[in-house]
Amino acid sequence: MSKQATANPEDTNRRDFIVLSATAMGGLGAVGALWPFVDSMNPSADVLALASVEVDLSPIAEGQEIKVMWRGKPVYIRHRTKADIDDARSVDVADLPDPQQDADRVIEGHDQWLVMVGVCTHLGCVPLGGKKGEFGGWFCPCHGSHYDTSGRIRKGPAPKNLLVPDYSFIDDTRIKIG
Ligand code: FES
Repeated sequence: MSKQATANPEDTNRRDFIVLSATAMGGLGAVGALWPFVDSMNPSADVLALASVEVDLSPIAEGQEIKVMWRGKPVYIRHRTKADIDDARSVDVADLPDPQQDADRVIEGHDQWLVMVGVCTHLGCVPLGGKKGEFGGWFCPCHGSHYDTSGRIRKGPAPKNLLVPDYSFIDDTRIKIG
């Protein structure tokens, strides 16, 4: 009887163990190879820094607005006057193309500050700020959309109000966008 033809159960078990071990090592190797790839997909520190922007509001006088860049988009920050706020709140929201209360577009207790992404909701132009248009807010010259002092669409082809991004007050004069 040839030695080769005889299956020794102990040899079989050892071979199974070797195959299983090799498979397990192969699995670990695959995870090891995958990790640098997954890690490379995580945002780097400079990208993370751009994910949020801190803005000091103290230099913006009442009635003025500034534009800052956040995630590659312009963001308007307007220090509204009482007249701006009264105008925005005297509107019957049921008449608006995109009904939304002014109070829902600002942070309670900081109603004078309006923060919005400056991208027209029609086809993405940057509306002109500084009390432009027929409603004292922003005007998009591309196809004639008029936004009011709350950044809500009032006239023209844009279907939605200007977007209010996620932001919060760090203290009374500083906000963090994003
Ligand atoms: S992109 Fe603003 S009105 Fe068309």
